[in-house]
Amino acid sequence: MHADPIDLSLLARSAAIDRDGRLSIGGCDLVALAEEHGTPLYVYDEDELRVRCREYRAAFPGGVAYASKAFLCLAMARLVNEEGLDLDVASGGELHVALAAGFPADRIQLHGNNKSADELRRALNAGVRHVIVDSYDELDRIDALVRDERCPPPDVLVRVNPGVDAHTHEYLATGAVDAKFGFPLIDNQAFSAITRIADSNTATFAGIHAHIGSQIFRREGFAAALERLALLVARVESELGLAVDELNIGGGLGVRYVESDDPPSIAQHAALVHEDLGAALSAAGVRQPPRLTTEPGRSIAGPAGVTLYRVGTIKTIPGLRTYVSVDGGLSDNPRPALYGATYEAFLPARAAARRDALVTIAGKHCEQGDLLATDVEVPGEIEPGDVLCMPVTGAYGHSMASNYNKIGRPAVVFVRAGTHRVVVRRETDDDLLRLDIS
Ligand code: LLP
Repeated sequence: MHADPIDLSLLARSAAIDRDGRLSIGGCDLVALAEEHGTPLYVYDEDELRVRCREYRAAFPGGVAYASKAFLCLAMARLVNEEGLDLDVASGGELHVALAAGFPADRIQLHGNNKSADELRRALNAGVRHVIVDSYDELDRIDALVRDERCPPPDVLVRVNPGVDAHTHEYLATGAVDAKFGFPLIDNQAFSAITRIADSNTATFAGIHAHIGSQIFRREGFAAALERLALLVARVESELGLAVDELNIGGGLGVRYVESDDPPSIAQHAALVHEDLGAALSAAGVRQPPRLTTEPGRSIAGPAGVTLYRVGTIKTIPGLRTYVSVDGGLSDNPRPALYGATYEAFLPARAAARRDALVTIAGKHCEQGDLLATDVEVPGEIEPGDVLCMPVTGAYGHSMASNYNKIGRPAVVFVRAGTHRVVVRRETDDDLLRLDIS
């Protein structure tokens, strides 16, 4: 046990502790936000989101699309648009939110391993230009929509499954041979898909795409994928006489959830993948290098967000452990239950306090597995009524939230320069009835 206070570098750059030991983000006192808006509450630092978008744009001049599955609402789509990033959507619902936010359709790209004809139709008719195709069945669907319904023909990137190990949780790895995503390199499938598109008059070949997984800290997986993709680029050049304009390496850069995590920064990650791509392209003998693009989600949204909870009960099982139960849980953050994800916790009213007690933070759902943090350090004086903060919950928390146990999903607040605004309101008990008929 270190018993140190929370490391402020896990929080947005604006995080500050005042003379009374209270923590603010974006100039807003977290306990005051919890009091005004209730708990659980997702709080995002708007400047942190923007700075991360800018870091990505600077580091990947070839192009960046924000992966909206990490965190999406109207305010976020507008922020991403203002920062000049493109937007990756992976369902008709994400597309709907993006269009409702006024996101320009020609900067939206559509993803998914099982896009329905309806999703494809809506996207093409709305003016979405880029579709990342994932299967022959999808190519058939695009053919039919363009030929029979006169939908505008899309520019397509071919999602390739490079068959590499991403060094992450198995549920977060998408690039191994046995994965549902993309055309495998084995059996010539990726090359055949590109050949088919090159010969097609219902779609234009725009490039190659691979996403090997998420929450990745190590270079090797990306490097191995780039090596294989470069060989494919070379083959497309030499056998089809086609230059590959774009190579999209997907998202996947990991973030620091707990103090011992040590991922590369956005700039370091970008330098490594550019270097590895350069080496791979020259080893493969590629003559016209494609531009490198990326589509990060977690590394933009994750560190910009925290969740505030209120402590309800504290129960000590002698000789075993102390459970500190809060008013949320796996409905607002399923990541610990799903992936064994780890988080830190602290009390924003006493942010500089030593965290000298080892406890387990439990949610309020009817499952023993509903634990938000197991054996985590908090100040020993923690008591019912305290506001507890968990950092780095900005990605895949709100977006994967559920209504389990008929608990309404929390509100989302954006903070900036001492002001705050609710961008998603809290679900009420009546919201829980809004889909029921009779
Ligand atoms: N592109 C594609 C095609 C993806 O499937 C994903 C994430 C991304 C980009 C963004 O990846 P990121 O930069 O966020 O790692 N629910 C899991 C993460 C699932 C990631 C799904 N795909 C979690 O909470 O850890």
